[in-house]
Amino acid sequence: MKLWITGGQGMLGKVLQQLCEQKGIGSAAPSRNEADLTNPSALSKQAERIRPTHIINCAAYTDVDGAENNEEKAFAINAEGARNLALTAREVGAKFIHISTDYVFDGLATTPYQEDDLCVPINAYGKSKWEAEKLVLDAFPQACIIRTSWLFGGQRKDFISSVLNGLQEKERIQVVTDQCGRPTYVHDLAHAVLDLLDVEGIVHFANSGPVSRFQLAMDVKDEMLKQGKSVKCTEIEPVLSQKFPTQAQRPSYSVLATEKFTQITGKQPRPWKEAMGEYFEHVSATS
Ligand SMILES: NC(=O)c1ccc[n+]([C@@H]2O[C@H](COP(=O)([O-])OP(=O)(O)OC[C@H]3O[C@@H](n4cnc5c(N)ncnc54)[C@H](OP(=O)(O)O)[C@@H]3O)[C@@H](O)[C@H]2O)c1
Repeated sequence: MKLWITGGQGMLGKVLQQLCEQKGIGSAAPSRNEADLTNPSALSKQAERIRPTHIINCAAYTDVDGAENNEEKAFAINAEGARNLALTAREVGAKFIHISTDYVFDGLATTPYQEDDLCVPINAYGKSKWEAEKLVLDAFPQACIIRTSWLFGGQRKDFISSVLNGLQEKERIQVVTDQCGRPTYVHDLAHAVLDLLDVEGIVHFANSGPVSRFQLAMDVKDEMLKQGKSVKCTEIEPVLSQKFPTQAQRPSYSVLATEKFTQITGKQPRPWKEAMGEYFEHVSATS
């Protein structure tokens, strides 16, 4: 088995490479310069060189706000780029696993989104990722698409690391109450990707326990105190999203249902709180 991981310098790609190393699974992760998703001939060259059994697309244009003013770029990388890679996988007879997002949904639901629920993205990033799903399945109907949400625990900035910094540096922070989702530890997602290597179709993966961003911030603070980390912040103020106008609108409820993942793998995603505790211990051990 030989995995080609795109986006190897990104949050998920990096952790997935480390996990492959630990498990003795062969992998290659050429840089964006060597394998730009928007350059089909560069992708073919890499495929000939690597001869992968599986191609895992962790690369994407992930700047949700930036995508509003750079829609063309977001579509070129996220949608056309994903199709280029799916076609490359088909050419070389490799399986194709593509990572997608909860932002393909409009957030108007009140119960968790199933894999076959209607996708109506409400921002440019979500639209580019939804287009990607359609192009990928059109180019490679046996592909596996893993939708996930609210990643944390890598080396790049994410919501939890931003809250953690805010709690350490500020007396007071404001956090929105009207966005609810399922945080996902990037290490758990990397394990899930390996569990789904030979699966076809769309599968959701996220850690368990829907939570609002506000409650998540409160729980981050509790966990920091529990682990004896310094906390400067004395007040986490609940606010509505309209108080924080961002370029891109976020879905207010993007909770993914993960029963299909459990049916396929026999595994239950663990609670995000447990995963967050592990992440904080890891941060303490390495800082
Ligand atoms: N982060 C989240 O909360 C979240 C939530 C749901 C779904 N997802 C999805 O999960 C996947 C992984 O996300 P992530 O957070 O790990 O992303 P990330 O940290 O932003 O990393 C993205 C990677 O893609 C690479 N890349 C960008 N444009 C490229 C191009 N044209 N050709 C080749 N590589 C390119 C980047 O290269 P450079 O290192 O050179 O910039 C980077 O290594 C993405 O599909 C994302 O949409 C993420």
